[in-house]
Amino acid sequence: MKINGKHYRAIWRAPCGAVQVIDQRWLPHELRIATLANRQDFADAIRDMWVRGAPLIGATAAYGVAVQMAEDPSDAALDETCEVLHATRPTAINLKWALDEMTRVLRPLAPEARAEAAYKRAAGICDEDVEINRQIGLHGLEIIREIAAKKAGARVNVLTHCNAGWPATVDWGTATSPIYHAVEAGIDVHVFVDETRPRNQGAQLTAWELKSHGVSHDLIVDNAGGHLMQHGEIDLVIVGTDRTTARGDVCNKIGTYLKALAAKANGVPFYVALPSPTIDWTVQDGVKEIPIEERGAEEVTHVQGRDPEGRIISVQISPDGTGARNSAFDVTPAELVTGLITERGVVAAEPQALAAAFPDLAPQ
Ligand code: MRU
Repeated sequence: MKINGKHYRAIWRAPCGAVQVIDQRWLPHELRIATLANRQDFADAIRDMWVRGAPLIGATAAYGVAVQMAEDPSDAALDETCEVLHATRPTAINLKWALDEMTRVLRPLAPEARAEAAYKRAAGICDEDVEINRQIGLHGLEIIREIAAKKAGARVNVLTHCNAGWPATVDWGTATSPIYHAVEAGIDVHVFVDETRPRNQGAQLTAWELKSHGVSHDLIVDNAGGHLMQHGEIDLVIVGTDRTTARGDVCNKIGTYLKALAAKANGVPFYVALPSPTIDWTVQDGVKEIPIEERGAEEVTHVQGRDPEGRIISVQISPDGTGARNSAFDVTPAELVTGLITERGVVAAEPQALAAAFPDLAPQ
């Protein structure tokens, strides 16, 4: 998607061959590009959230393997790199999916053939992500079109949580792709953007990307969604996911579950944009089986922003000595999900429906 008229992906190879990413820690105030030169850079970038969002974490890990293969293509280096990168963030399944995919492709090859093959597969994973998200957009567009028709063309109001936009993927985003496609189709769409404490991905990233593309939006505090739904101000919710189980339970940024409960109580459709690499076919009960990342207390006790002099600073908002719990994700049970917007169409959040949509991926 475009920043100031120039097209960017969230990760790319520079003409010199270096892997570069947008360092998202500085957005929306500064656009900084980071070059990831070795395995440690890739691990730091994922763990410390220079890059974040399930699909982008997977794509970054794939390139991390490629960079390491150019340095040392041995079996031991392949295994160790996958181990180091896998340990960075536990919840988004795309990380494991991408590392497994790189291992599947590289393991049978002679070491001297691995670097080139690794770069090729990493580029392929990126291109596939873009196409998957484009397809999600086209299927999601039909949902928005239907709502717009029912409202006789009046504004369609979408609520979204966290950032499941293009900075969370290689391009298009998952939850934002239907919105971009709807805007392109001339539908009047407005987005209510949850700020998404503690890291404020909504305020810092979703609001930024929507603004960059001229999409009508308002930032709201995390607790406002239920109130807006009660007053008929939300037509549908679209969120992303870090891991969706074989029966359709959806793990996503902390706070998603509360939005789903409020949506159910108010008869608002709750959709999840779901690329197939985000399905974990090995788990059923998301609440019991998905590991939830616990992050540092400082993300809760402090807030980052820009001061009047334009410096990006972090300020403390709680008393000295107050501890904090920082569970980064929660699980929305399948029964609260109206539909999963996948690259193969809108699928019910039910085990049979998911397996029927992805017979080539679901275990037999
Ligand atoms: O902690 P983050 O910013 O990596 O969490 C991101 C989310 O929860 C997204 O909604 C999810 O990864 C889907 S991204 C298309």
